[in-house]
Amino acid sequence: MVSIDDDKRAAAVAAVAEVQDRMLVGLGTGSTAAFAIRALGERVAAGLQIRAVVTSDASGVLARDVGIEVLDFADIARVDLTIDGADEIDSRCFAIKGAGGAMLREKVVAASSARMIVIADRSKRVEQIGAAKLPIEVLPFAGSYVMRVLAGLGAAPEIRCNYRTDQDNLVIDCHFHALEDPRATAAMLAAIPGILGHGLFLDEVAAAYIATDGIVTRLERAGASA
Ligand code: 5RP
Repeated sequence: MVSIDDDKRAAAVAAVAEVQDRMLVGLGTGSTAAFAIRALGERVAAGLQIRAVVTSDASGVLARDVGIEVLDFADIARVDLTIDGADEIDSRCFAIKGAGGAMLREKVVAASSARMIVIADRSKRVEQIGAAKLPIEVLPFAGSYVMRVLAGLGAAPEIRCNYRTDQDNLVIDCHFHALEDPRATAAMLAAIPGILGHGLFLDEVAAAYIATDGIVTRLERAGASA
């Protein structure tokens, strides 16, 4: 029987096959991204020459552990290819990310990338994003105010308990009753002072590798270049 972890690994290995010599690779965060980091480490051990930037301290530790050279993203303006997980992905290549709390750095690295690929097991593939909680990174100074505004918008906000991001900010997990217009929701969130980022990835994902019972299928955003 193929386990979820087998599928995470299969999707990760398929995506890592896109990495070529001399690329600067963005490394995502979470359990699926960790499979990709390990698979990339194996290719580096076999002679692949790449450098990487990471989206979280945890991914940095793992990447260095497996022999990948990690650069400080603060010095980097452009990344060739980023590989990251997701909490939900739909056929439009719209994704919800951030259960692991790294969505702010993940979005910055994705935005800087010529191509971003999501890797996922079958449980993440949905008809339309919206059932997963939508994580929002918030400046602690603005926590109570942002909670009030989000509650007023019907977002059922919950502060993630005993949790701070790598930047020492709060995460508020939201659940919108329906996410019928994700772009309108993203614009609304971006307009609230104190919100630093959120887990709606509507333009970043160029393609996704999704594994179901050991079979990996590739989903490509309409008009994206491979
Ligand atoms: C972290 C993320 C992760 O990529 C997402 O939560 C998926 O994680 P996992 O692969 O462990 O299910 O967005 O901020």
